[in-house]
Amino acid sequence: MSSQPVSQHPVGVFDSGVGGLSVLKHIHALLPHEHLIYVADSLNAPYGNKSPEEITERCLALTDFLLAHGAKAIVVACNTATAAGIARLRQEHPALPIIGMEPAVKPAAAASKNGIIGVLATTGTLQSAQFAALLEAYGRNVQVVTQACVGLVECIERGDLDGSETRALLQKYLKPLLDEGADTIVLGCTHYPFVKPLIQELIGEGVTLVDTGAAVARRLQSQLAERGLLNQSAEQGKPEFWTNSPQPDAMEVIESLWGEKINAGA
Ligand code: DGL
Repeated sequence: MSSQPVSQHPVGVFDSGVGGLSVLKHIHALLPHEHLIYVADSLNAPYGNKSPEEITERCLALTDFLLAHGAKAIVVACNTATAAGIARLRQEHPALPIIGMEPAVKPAAAASKNGIIGVLATTGTLQSAQFAALLEAYGRNVQVVTQACVGLVECIERGDLDGSETRALLQKYLKPLLDEGADTIVLGCTHYPFVKPLIQELIGEGVTLVDTGAAVARRLQSQLAERGLLNQSAEQGKPEFWTNSPQPDAMEVIESLWGEKINAGA
């Protein structure tokens, strides 16, 4: 890897588990020539109920792993990890492009017609200072109903996208948002886009769902372009997938969420 120009090095992407694959799909679609290394830290999922210090340690360790594999940029494909750890990551690696994410409160506030938006996210994200700042900046002129979705990440990690447990949890978590009349709902955790069809079925077509996967891919593109790091090769990028999950079928779950045959890292 080191003999190649840096622009041909991979982009490293991580999440607490399989959720960041929803972001990786946008990255792969927008930047098909980039090599991508994805790490699912599923052994440590969910991050949503861990302390910011524990999550920051995971962010540092996963970034070291990706850098050891030649990563030229890092995408923190996790709202919870961004809130807890991105400041420290940037402090440790000042020259490295590091792209994070936050719940799409700004676009949701702009899209809402009745001024009532819902935000589904982890407890960690909703309790973070970053989320408070986001509400302060973009949530002032709308009513924001927040809901932590405890237990939902675990269902998605198992690959359960529409089973009875996932369905029951979502019914419970969507109810307060619908009762308040939210017409726009933010999927503020990267796992949730995988249950978007079920959410849409439960809330009906009149409510709009927003997430930030596409915006993160565009941000990565502009950061790489600014630094002359876009891979100009005509070759198709090869995504590579790593997981530390103890679940025997973890790679099958990743493959089914990714939607095609995958290269497992070794
Ligand atoms: N996918 C994550 C996020 O975007 C974290 C889920 C979790 O591990 O709790 O917030």
